[in-house]
Amino acid sequence: MAVMVLLSLTESELRRRTSLKWHTYPEDVLPLWVAEMDVSLHPAVGDALRAAIDLGDTGYPFGNTYGEAFVAMATARWGWTPDITTQVRRSGDVMNAMLAVVLSTTAEGDNIVLNPPVYPPFWQVISGYGRKIVASHLTTAGRLDLADLERVFEESRPTAYLLCSPHNPTGAVHTLEELTEVVALCRRFDVQLIADEIHAALVDPGTTFVPLLAVPGAERAVVATSAGKAWNLAAFKAGQLIAGAEIATELWGKIGPLAFQSTGHFGAIAHTAALVHAQDWVDDLMIEVAANKQLLARLLAEQVPEARYTPAPGTYLAWVDLTETGLSDPGRWLLRHGKVAFNPGDVFGADYGTFVRINLATSPELIAQAVGRVADALRARG
Ligand SMILES: Cc1ncc(COP(=O)(O)O)c(C=O)c1O
Repeated sequence: MAVMVLLSLTESELRRRTSLKWHTYPEDVLPLWVAEMDVSLHPAVGDALRAAIDLGDTGYPFGNTYGEAFVAMATARWGWTPDITTQVRRSGDVMNAMLAVVLSTTAEGDNIVLNPPVYPPFWQVISGYGRKIVASHLTTAGRLDLADLERVFEESRPTAYLLCSPHNPTGAVHTLEELTEVVALCRRFDVQLIADEIHAALVDPGTTFVPLLAVPGAERAVVATSAGKAWNLAAFKAGQLIAGAEIATELWGKIGPLAFQSTGHFGAIAHTAALVHAQDWVDDLMIEVAANKQLLARLLAEQVPEARYTPAPGTYLAWVDLTETGLSDPGRWLLRHGKVAFNPGDVFGADYGTFVRINLATSPELIAQAVGRVADALRARG
């Protein structure tokens, strides 16, 4: 049987899409930015949604099929089984779940720690709601800097810490040792640990993702997650909050019931179908993504030697250092002069303006075209 290539949609097929990635920029711009994947919907997800539409099954979600699907997946994939009744609640999406935890476990004016460069809404759930951001930057290798985290906890006495696991945009997959240290630091300084694990299934073949709540001592941590990234379901917003056993009852009481009633029925149906039927699919996808990371590294070395890029095992995102191009804002410069859209680095932290984030969940052809555009634009600059 022919092997199905998932990342093979053509530019003309993709340009018919109306969502953010393919619609924000004019037709002459090649978009490799926001975290949408250039894949077709998994057939089982499409079938589940079509069946619901045909039935007119457009009411509220019932029961906890979605939570059960998540627990079954977590058990099979990672050997981690949160208690469905006490530890798992559904939410409207991941960032609103994170926000609900921030608002209910911290107070206005509190310090909250994050790790720049990091996904822009992490900044927004802190500063947008009257809390203060304290930065513990990742190392130059894009990993957690545990000594710095300890220093920051000591000096700023934060009430919460937002961990991105795996890390968007550097693709770091935190190890058991790193997470054990993070958990110990949070316990020592009484910091509420809140992790976003939406990229958890997106790791290269051979890489092990460690669920935070499976780490000994993490019983007071909280995790927000969903099938949204790994199965490309942003159109069907839904999420899960999983609380450590020691904190769950208290946390659900503090958050209050409304946050858990914001999941749409179609979101729950789509995410459930993906979790139940599309486990091999995401593993196959990551074989292609891992090859795309190697492709990008090779093409940049050949055509854009000023670029610094080391493939990392998590996510389908590439974090590329363009400092040596001498451009102060290469992301926006390349949009104008190269007609290629990456995420400019400064949206992940003010110190990262000379980086770009490139979305590799697309075909090798489009990656090659994007690198060609970068190389041509830099050459034309003289
Ligand atoms: C780390 C991270 N968290 C959350 C999200 C968005 O999730 P949601 O739409 O469920 O809020 C993204 C999307 O790219 C992400 O990268």
